[in-house]
Amino acid sequence: MTLFGYNDAMKKLRPILITLIIGALLYALGRFGIVYYDSTLFLERAPYMQMQTATSVLFKWQSPEAEIGCVRLESREVCDSAPTRYHRVAIDGLTPATRYMYTVHSPSMGIDNEERFFETLHVSPQEVQRIWAIGDSGKAGKDQEAVYGQMMRFLGDQKLDLWLLLGDNAYSSGTQKQFNKALFTPYAPTLKTHTPWAVNGNHDARRWAFDDIFEMPTEAEAGGAPSKSEKFYALESGNVHIVMLDSHEGDMSADGKMARWLHEDLSKVNKPWIIAVLHHPPYSKGSHDSDSRYDSWFRMVNAREHIMPILERYGVDLVLSGHSHGYERSRLIAGHYETSDRFDPKVHHRSDETHHFVKSSVKAPQDGTIYNIVGSSSKTGKNPYNHPVMQTSFGRLGSLLLEVTPTRLEGYFIDHNGTIADHYSITKEVKE
Ligand SMILES: [Fe+2]
Repeated sequence: MTLFGYNDAMKKLRPILITLIIGALLYALGRFGIVYYDSTLFLERAPYMQMQTATSVLFKWQSPEAEIGCVRLESREVCDSAPTRYHRVAIDGLTPATRYMYTVHSPSMGIDNEERFFETLHVSPQEVQRIWAIGDSGKAGKDQEAVYGQMMRFLGDQKLDLWLLLGDNAYSSGTQKQFNKALFTPYAPTLKTHTPWAVNGNHDARRWAFDDIFEMPTEAEAGGAPSKSEKFYALESGNVHIVMLDSHEGDMSADGKMARWLHEDLSKVNKPWIIAVLHHPPYSKGSHDSDSRYDSWFRMVNAREHIMPILERYGVDLVLSGHSHGYERSRLIAGHYETSDRFDPKVHHRSDETHHFVKSSVKAPQDGTIYNIVGSSSKTGKNPYNHPVMQTSFGRLGSLLLEVTPTRLEGYFIDHNGTIADHYSITKEVKE
């Protein structure tokens, strides 16, 4: 094309390009406006718990009228200090490992006070501790209901101790409306008795609603080292130490604020088990590809290259993630921080076993970690599920139950039909 022809073509294209750019900007602005509006919207919300520690708990709820609401916990009654629609009642002075019955009173709203109780976190080791993990659970509907219902059936009369949310808790933008639809309504029975401990996922990304709904420890209120940030924190109960990390908006550099806190926190753990939770998985070939630096914009690569070496240095036993909408679970591995083609089973496997592993009860650097993605608690994603780190991979709906004793950790992936689709364990042996 001659220069004259090129200029002529550009002249004709320019109005179309300008229209497209203005259209895209208007669309982005419109989306931003809708998400911001829905994220800051007031909605009625039944009472739920946050900051549940060994000695305290925080109750939050939202009533249609500004009023003084109260929580009655056994013989104590604690009320709002002034009328409000955003209720926030904190109670302290509780005894660890104790079940408390409670009721909530807020004049303008009907509250279901049947079977409301909770148990404070355990300080000393507990014979068995059950931890339920749901990932990418934020799509309300039949699949989410089936996964939830089957786990409750599997649990039966057994006591659940902790409930972990692995991120992407309310699709598609984590707004107040979406959190009511995908968390507060479908999981209402469990919210009466258990605190949802969450990490931030990319669909919770704007944090306006997320930060409003969740209140995280900053001063080690639930154990561990003070993080001085709600983005990442520790949670301890019984025989388990859990680090909850922000892989979406947190500083994922090897010497950043979160990494420095991890060194401080993990170097002092005196519990037999350490679990780490972050939304973005270091290894996946599900609906996301951890080999790609641009998939999820470096987050999976940063997790693998910068954060996993720290976790493995302190003997973390299990890393739970979501983000990829399937189930992927590794053997006991260590020292693999590159792309999947560099995985060498002879170097990186810490056991020839495929499901049931043994470790020493004395923690040592790179003594083996299981990487487990549970990203299918409300939706499933595409193939290929062929990451060489993974022993078991499939695109099936479900959630994970961990049963932990002082010497054994067992994982059960219960699918939407109630089948145990994967079962693994780590046994800690005491060396003479
Ligand atoms: Fe995600």
